[in-house]
Amino acid sequence: MNFLGSLISLASAGMLMLSSSLMTLAPQHDIEGLLFLCNREWTIAESYVPASLREADVPGQVRRMRPEAAAALEEMFAACQEETGVTLMSISGYRSYASQKNIYQRKLDSVRGNVAKAQQYVAPPGTSEHTLGLAMDIGQKKKPHLTEAFAATEGGVWARENCWRFGFILRYDQAWEEITGYSYEPWHFRYVGRELAKEIHDSGLPLELWLPGYRTRRLLALLGVPEAEAVSDPVPSSEPNS
Ligand code: DAL
Ligand code: ZN
Repeated sequence: MNFLGSLISLASAGMLMLSSSLMTLAPQHDIEGLLFLCNREWTIAESYVPASLREADVPGQVRRMRPEAAAALEEMFAACQEETGVTLMSISGYRSYASQKNIYQRKLDSVRGNVAKAQQYVAPPGTSEHTLGLAMDIGQKKKPHLTEAFAATEGGVWARENCWRFGFILRYDQAWEEITGYSYEPWHFRYVGRELAKEIHDSGLPLELWLPGYRTRRLLALLGVPEAEAVSDPVPSSEPNS
């Protein structure tokens, strides 16, 4: 290989290392990853469609999700049935940008254009985790759907307490309304993978506040600094995406 060839190979290797480090340090921007942070501040391009989607084999409707999320949902619903006898149902999984746009517009029309009211429960297009293929609105068969009453159903209580076992987290808890920007949605579960769901669940933090602490730990690990030696306060900053 001539000098130029070696230089190009070196540069490509460098770029590869840099981009994998960036994804290590900024998983909240890796749209194909499980920790992509999607909210009104961090959005999804109109052209984005997940690389792969499939129908979860569960009772209910709008059952498409990313394959690993669909498999986890099937396991979660089966476990709930086995452990409690309760049948959970899918209400709304993957929604394309266009479909979220329609849902948002319908909501907006129903509240006579009051944006704050519309956005209490419905994400504007490009800001919904449903468009990632990683969110599922869950209900219990023959019980109220998409209302706070779901929280008090046996299925709602079980889902909240057990979702992490299958890689899901409750995304819009009551105490987080100021941070997430949404009212309490006991039905909206986000797949983040089994590896981290328990940690996120146990932290008691919304994704917006859990991510900065996680990224700090990843950075320290990348730099080879043992966590015990880190001087900084391990409590994440309250600044989203800082
Ligand atoms: N209901 C949630 C916020 C959504 O529309 O994605
Ligand atoms: Zn939802």
